[in-house]
Amino acid sequence: MKESVIRLFENTFREKPSLLIRSPGRVNLIGEHTDYNDGFVFPLAISYAVWLALLPSTDGTVALHAGSYNETASFHLDNIRHTGPDWLEYVKGVAVSMQGQEYNLTGWKGCILTDLPIGSGLSSSAALEMAVAMAFAEVSRLSFDPAKMALLGQQAENSWVGVNCGIMDQLASACGVADHALFIDCRSLELEPVPLPQDTLIAILDTGIPRSLASSDYNTRRAQCETAARFFKVAALRDVTLEKLQDNIKLLDETVGKRALHIVSENDRVLSTVDQLKKGNMEAVGQLFYQSHESLRDLYNVSSPELDRIVEAAMSSDGCYGARMTGAGFGGCAVALVKKEAAEKFSEQLLQGYQSKTGMQAKILLTSAVDGTKTFPVG
Ligand code: GLA
Repeated sequence: MKESVIRLFENTFREKPSLLIRSPGRVNLIGEHTDYNDGFVFPLAISYAVWLALLPSTDGTVALHAGSYNETASFHLDNIRHTGPDWLEYVKGVAVSMQGQEYNLTGWKGCILTDLPIGSGLSSSAALEMAVAMAFAEVSRLSFDPAKMALLGQQAENSWVGVNCGIMDQLASACGVADHALFIDCRSLELEPVPLPQDTLIAILDTGIPRSLASSDYNTRRAQCETAARFFKVAALRDVTLEKLQDNIKLLDETVGKRALHIVSENDRVLSTVDQLKKGNMEAVGQLFYQSHESLRDLYNVSSPELDRIVEAAMSSDGCYGARMTGAGFGGCAVALVKKEAAEKFSEQLLQGYQSKTGMQAKILLTSAVDGTKTFPVG
């Protein structure tokens, strides 16, 4: 990727870039839709990433070539408006959020290339936002505080792009730690890297059906959680215990009650997963994965038939501790924990199982946990 993005830059701008940035996507092990409820999540930065090669410019413009779309577009930092293309709006959103913090930004030209499948729930947009935040920080000589930049990326998405996402994706991309998953408290933004077991593989299972962005469904879920929190007179569902919820669930609208039950139980599952992972009890972690999937399917209603089939196929393949949909849902990917020694059998059986259930080809992306957004010297 490194060489390819440098070559793309040279072919596009007929100059050499002065800096390279790698910003990873993420996969969430467990803790789905809990981030915007001030809850707990457990993602890791993955070895699939957005790469950005760039060179500072002096005329206040940001010019960008997106390899995935074979398209070049630009905007001026003094006059940022919603004029598209869609992928550039994430870049503008980050610039606007940073300007909102009184940062004095310098322009640059750059090329982006990614091996992250776009729209598959692996946070290609958060990876782009964090790459862009790092680019602005570098060329404008600002310090890159990962948690602060993650918040600005989230703000870009909430206020400029219009998706009310939580903080998980940007934090995972910016703060990743090699060989560790990140146990994050989304209220305090406290983050604990937890070592991943060496004899277990993390397999991302791509259903081949892109996540229909479903931002309206996402925003509806968020509003339903806020309704439930208001009922309990708390800041967020993080503050409601399972017992309290169960005692009162009949008083809530049925759908709102189901949504709340997912969130409250999912928060507990994250805590148990971290605990069991630290003890090396992978069977228990696997059970928790599957319970999370059932809850997302039956209570939160964000799974899809393809996600359900791929999770079933994974669960009945050799060496699988557990599997669940990952990310927002509505299509995209699942994640499975697999015994390293059974990798080949697992892959074979998973692909065959999914195909016989759906007639479709799944893709398996094996990943390690990598460091968050960082710069590399060119050449
Ligand atoms: C998307 C959002 C995240 C999070 C997940 C669901 O990836 O961007 O903030 O809410 O969905 O866990």
